[in-house]
Amino acid sequence: MNDWVIAQDWNSYSAAEHALWDELFARQAAVLSSRAAPAFLEGLDVLRMSKPGIPDFTELSKRLEKATGWSVVAVPGLIPEEDFFDNLANRRFVAGRFIRKPEQIDYLKEPDVFHDVFGHVPLLVNPVFADYMQAYGRGGLRSMRYGSIHRLARLYWYTVEFGLIRDGSALKLYGSGIASSASESRFAIDSDSPNRLGFDLRRIMRTKYRIDDFQQNYFVIDSFEQLLRETLDTDFGPLYEELDTLPEIEPGVILPTDRVLNRGTQSRVADRP
Ligand SMILES: [Fe+2]
Repeated sequence: MNDWVIAQDWNSYSAAEHALWDELFARQAAVLSSRAAPAFLEGLDVLRMSKPGIPDFTELSKRLEKATGWSVVAVPGLIPEEDFFDNLANRRFVAGRFIRKPEQIDYLKEPDVFHDVFGHVPLLVNPVFADYMQAYGRGGLRSMRYGSIHRLARLYWYTVEFGLIRDGSALKLYGSGIASSASESRFAIDSDSPNRLGFDLRRIMRTKYRIDDFQQNYFVIDSFEQLLRETLDTDFGPLYEELDTLPEIEPGVILPTDRVLNRGTQSRVADRP
C-alpha cells in the first residue's frame, strides 16, 4: 500500500498565501461562532499555531497526537480510495498542501489546505469523532470487498462533509464542506430552502448527492456518540446486499419514513437556471 505522503514544505509558502489563510480563517471563525457545533469551535484552538498563516503540519500533528493520536500529512491531491481509507484507519488525516488563489476565495472544486485543515482537523481533537473517523477508514477498506464504496462515500458525504448536529433545541453544523464555506455555512443553518432530516444510516447509503451546488437535504445527528455507535454496531456486509435490492433515492426527496426536522421550500433548486 502507498501512503502518498509528501513533504508539506512549509517554508515554500509565500507571504501572500499565508495572508490568504489568515483572511479565510478570520472570516470563517466569525461566520461559525453562532453556527458551528461547540466541539468544532473548541477544536479550532488546535489550529492556532505559534506562527501565523497556514499551519505547519509537523507542529499541528504534535498537538493532535497529544489530544487523540491523529496526525496530519500532506498528499499531492486526491489519492486512491484504498490508500485514503488506509490512512484514516491508521489515524492519519491526508491533506492537500496547496491553497486556493485569491479569486477562488469563495469557492473551489478541489479540496485545498483550507478545506482539509480548517474544515476537518478541529473535530479530530474530539475523542469520539476521532474514533468515528478511524472506524470509517476501517469500514472503507472492508467496503471495497463488497463493491460498495459508493455507499460508504455517501455516509462520509452526509456526515463528515455536510453533517448537522443537534445542540439543545438548535441545529449546528459540523461537516467540513460546510464549515470551510462562508456561503454554505449560512445556507445550511439559516436558509428555509433545504430539508433537514434525522440521521438514518441505511437511508443515507441509498441517497445520491450533489457535488455542483449546496445540498438539498442535510442529515442531523443527535450526537457524535450516535454516529460512532451506529457505525460500529452495523454489520455492513449483509446491509450492502440488502441495499442493492432497494431503489436509489434522489437528492432533495423526503420519504414517508423520514424524521423531518425542517421541511424545506427547495426554493434554491427552483431558482436554478
Ligand atoms: Fe473534505
